[in-house]
Amino acid sequence: MTTTFDPTGGKPGQVRFFLPGPVWVRDAVRQAMAHEAIGHRGKAFADLYARIPPRLQKVFRTEGFVFTTTSAATGLWEAALLNLVPERVLAVVSGAFSERWAACARDLGIAVDVLEAPWGTPVDPEEVRRALGKGRYEAVTVVHSETSTGTLNDLAAIARAVREASDAFVLADVVTSIAGSPVECDAWNLDFVLSGSQKALALPPGLGVAFASARFRERAKKSSRAHYLRLAEAEAFAEKNQTPYTPSTPHLFALDVQLDHILQETIEGRWARHDALRRRVESWAAERGHTYAPIEGARSWTVSCLKPRPGVSAEALVAKVKERGFTIGGGYGKWKASTFRIGHMGDVDLASLEALLAALDDSAEESA
Ligand SMILES: Cc1ncc(COP(=O)(O)O)c(C=O)c1O
Repeated sequence: MTTTFDPTGGKPGQVRFFLPGPVWVRDAVRQAMAHEAIGHRGKAFADLYARIPPRLQKVFRTEGFVFTTTSAATGLWEAALLNLVPERVLAVVSGAFSERWAACARDLGIAVDVLEAPWGTPVDPEEVRRALGKGRYEAVTVVHSETSTGTLNDLAAIARAVREASDAFVLADVVTSIAGSPVECDAWNLDFVLSGSQKALALPPGLGVAFASARFRERAKKSSRAHYLRLAEAEAFAEKNQTPYTPSTPHLFALDVQLDHILQETIEGRWARHDALRRRVESWAAERGHTYAPIEGARSWTVSCLKPRPGVSAEALVAKVKERGFTIGGGYGKWKASTFRIGHMGDVDLASLEALLAALDDSAEESA
């Protein structure tokens, strides 16, 4: 089946910005942010805010509570922990972002045990099950798509293992997987699921979006030590189609426009497009001798992390392709010098990706 949907909203083949976040943003979304000011306690705001949850629920694949925050995704890591206040968490770590979430928990005074997989390898759900059998944990933190390594964890299987082995809450970071590859809040029985605006949702940075299960919200009513991101407050204000504090209204105008675009493509259509994009990078890399940093079968659909073929420097490649007008990500942390990352999330189309791959071919020649 051929699709006529243009994800770029009028700029097919013209995307040149392929960072693994923040990502390229469509003109219509950027323009929505220029809306004139409105008060956040008035009817115009309430009308705007009322339109968000029914469509955001479709993105998160839930009939439960979804909400937005004016914060980076990091603020929602903290919100998940501060609303729950677990004594001890099991942090599933497989890269830099999951490591940072564990550090966030430690900073909040929570006892953290780390279950670590080597970079590029997903965490084995059976290991999670075993770890839960050895200690009492109130929550498990998991990053679905590890942007630092381009590794995709099997979130569904990890959540199942947690459910079967314990009554711990499943806290999931889907920053670079939501609306880019399958994420099923209800079907996978997740408890707190968070993302930021500047990644797979293809909005400017600054907005957080999240889902909280009924079980999580019940517990949070009793345990929360959050103030700015207190869930019970967000819920109470959501009843009136408001937020507890002054929100970034421009971001909400942008989200309003972007949710229509996402649902017009359909969630499944969006998954299929990202699947096609990552498969194209896979076949291109195999033909050129570039190899994947993450193992086969555990690669993110939205960020491809590659080691250039022998003789080509990753850092030079990033610099050379930039001279041709294309921005890609360098390696992250300890993989800085050895890998490069192509962010193909959000509203990127195949024609734009082809243009990037051609520019990478030319640049590789000069990047020895
Ligand atoms: C998987 C993941 N989680 C969390 C973050 C942090 O997001 P923010 O900078 O919006 O706090 C990032 C940013 O790159 C990320 O890729």
